[in-house]
Amino acid sequence: MASRGTAHAALMDEVYRGQRHIYDLTRKYYLFGRDTLIAGLDATPGMRVLEVACGTGRNLARTGQVWPGVRLFGLDISAEMLKSARAALGSRARLGEGDACAFDPQALLGEPQFERIVLSYSLSMIPDWEAALDHAASLLAPRGALHIVDFGDLAGLPSPLAALLRAWLARFHVTPRKALPDAAARIAAARGLELTSRRGPLGYWQLHVLTRG
Ligand SMILES: C[S@@+](CC[C@H](N)C(=O)[O-])C[C@H]1O[C@@H](n2cnc3c(N)ncnc32)[C@H](O)[C@@H]1O
Repeated sequence: MASRGTAHAALMDEVYRGQRHIYDLTRKYYLFGRDTLIAGLDATPGMRVLEVACGTGRNLARTGQVWPGVRLFGLDISAEMLKSARAALGSRARLGEGDACAFDPQALLGEPQFERIVLSYSLSMIPDWEAALDHAASLLAPRGALHIVDFGDLAGLPSPLAALLRAWLARFHVTPRKALPDAAARIAAARGLELTSRRGPLGYWQLHVLTRG
């Protein structure tokens, strides 16, 4: 697959080769807002739910519990992360390896569109994150919704603490996207989608939903 040849895919494998074994245990203490996103999916049985950059499959597993009967799909650029996702989800989800910025959903996942698409703490790790956001928005089925959660502006944290957090995240190649609200608004307007947004406490996380009419 073309994505396996990219430097970014190799970097993600390097980051997660060891980390994936402790990922779910450790990330629950700082990837806040993920369960708020899942609770807001408002999915019905039979809907196709895709998580782009699904990591270990933690969110997909939970989505299947909260919204029984949905059809689960996941995509990630890291073959290492997909090993964990496959182990966690088995036949409950169809998974594919590809780049969020440019994957072919029909070829990788057997579906051209999805009723719900999730981007959770992934745009902050994707270099061309606006392309990934726009690509996900292009895959919405009629009346579909794209749900995004990621680090916010951290404006409510004392500045030294926010700086410390940013520096620590940078070690994992994570960059909070300050421009995400603007990009979400621009892409929603360009694609005729409705946008709703909210902020978590202290601006720790931001959540956006782009809905197709
Ligand atoms: C911080 S983890 C988030 C995993 C999961 N979404 C969650 O909320 O726990 C970021 C994930 O994004 C994936 N990723 C990074 N860049 C990607 C890209 N260009 N295309 C697809 N996945 C990517 C990584 O491999 C990793 O699994």
